[in-house]
Amino acid sequence: MFDPYEIRKDFPILERVINGRKLIYFDNAATTHKPLPVIEAIREFYIKYNANIHRGLHTLSQEASEKYEKAHETVAKFINAYSWDEIIFCSNTTDALNIVAYAWGLNNLREGDEVVLTVMDHHSSMLPWRNIAKFKKIKIKYVDITNDGYLKYSDFEKLITERTRVVAFPIMSNVLGTINDVKRIVKLAHEVGAIVVADGAQSVPHMPTNVRDLGIDFLAFSGHKMLGPTGIGVLWGKRELLEEMMPFKVGGDTIKDVTLDDVIWHDVPWRFEAGTPNIAGAIGLEAAIKYLQKIGLQNIRNHEKQLVEHTFKLFKEELGDEVTIYGPRNPNDRGGVISFNIKGLNHHIVGRALDSLFGIAVRTGMHCAHPLHYRLGLKGTVRASYYLYNTREEVEELVNALKFIVKQKENIEAIFKKDIEGIICPTG
Ligand code: ALA
Repeated sequence: MFDPYEIRKDFPILERVINGRKLIYFDNAATTHKPLPVIEAIREFYIKYNANIHRGLHTLSQEASEKYEKAHETVAKFINAYSWDEIIFCSNTTDALNIVAYAWGLNNLREGDEVVLTVMDHHSSMLPWRNIAKFKKIKIKYVDITNDGYLKYSDFEKLITERTRVVAFPIMSNVLGTINDVKRIVKLAHEVGAIVVADGAQSVPHMPTNVRDLGIDFLAFSGHKMLGPTGIGVLWGKRELLEEMMPFKVGGDTIKDVTLDDVIWHDVPWRFEAGTPNIAGAIGLEAAIKYLQKIGLQNIRNHEKQLVEHTFKLFKEELGDEVTIYGPRNPNDRGGVISFNIKGLNHHIVGRALDSLFGIAVRTGMHCAHPLHYRLGLKGTVRASYYLYNTREEVEELVNALKFIVKQKENIEAIFKKDIEGIICPTG
C-alpha cells in the first residue's frame, strides 16, 4: 500500500483553503488534480521542445514528434494493447466514443441493425449511438438495472440477438460505482458477432486495465480523470477494426496523399488524429500514467475500496436512515464513487452547504446520466468520489459535516435555498 499523506505533497492544490476550511476534494469522478511531475512535464515541453509534430524536419519538431509517439507507447503498455498504433489520442472520453460511433457506426451499420446500451450509461456512451440511429435507422435497446444497482445480465441475454452489431456500456458507473462484469457481456456480444465498446472513463484511472484479458473491441477514457491534463483522451481499438474504419474528422495529418480527385488515408492511428493534436496533453498524460504506475493501480483500487468500506460503516452508524446510498453494497463490486441523498433535503442544497460550511467539494445533480436518475425516480444525487490522495480522516469529516447538516436541516434549507435558484446546469 501507499501513504496518501505522502502523495498529497505532490498536489499543491490540496493545500487550498475553501471558505475558511482546508479543501476536501471529493469530486474526482468529474476531474482529478494534477501532481507536480505532470505539471512539470507539460512545462518542460513548452520550455524545451515545443513544436508541431510530423510537419517539420527541424530538431524541435522531431523531438516533439518522438515524445508524442512515445506517449502512445506508454498508453498502449498501460492498458496492455497489442501495439502502440492502436492508441488514438483525442480530446476526452466523449470524443473517443463519438469517433467509434461515427467512424465505425456510419460505415458498418445498416437499417434494421441493433445497438444494445444500458440505462446506466453516461450520456457520452448513449447519445452518439442515438445520433447514428437517426442516420442509419437502427434500433436502440436498453439493458435495465436491478434494485441494488447492478446491470441486469438476463436483459443482455434477452436483448442481444443476431441483429445486434454493437454493445456499449460503462466498465464502472459514474453514479452507482458499479463495476460491471465485462467478460460476461463480451461473451454474449461476441457470440452474435457484435462489437463491444467499453466506456472506461471511471474505471481506467482507478484499477488495472487489460484490454486483451477483457476481450473488448474498443475502450475510451480521459486523461483529466487520471491525474493528466484536460483536453486529452484515448480511444483504443482492435487493429483490424481500426483498419476498416473511415476517418470521421479529416484534414491535416490524416492523409498520405491528396489530389483534387482522390485521397489516400494515413496509417492508423494518424488518420484518426486530425489537425494539430494536443501534444502537451499527451506528454502530460504520459507523466500521469508513470505516476500512477509507480503507486500501482491495484494499490489505488485497494485504497479506494477501504475508503468506501469506511464510508458505508460511518454512514450507517452516524447517519442511519437519514441517508440513502445508491448502488451495490458490496465494496468488491463498486469503485470509489458514492452517490447519496439526505432525507428531505435537495441534493444541490447539501452540496452548497458542504462547500460553504466545510470546504468539501462534491458533485450534485444527475452527473450526465439523466436516464439513470429517471430510472431511479430521482431528481439528482450528491456524489462523493475518491482518489489516491483522499484519506480516512477526510471521510470522517464528510460524515461529521453531514451529521451537522442533518441536525440543522431546516436552517440549512433556509440559508441555501436561494443559492440553487437559477443554478447553472441544475440537473448536471
Ligand atoms: N463524466 C464526469 C462525471 O461523471 C464529468 O462527473
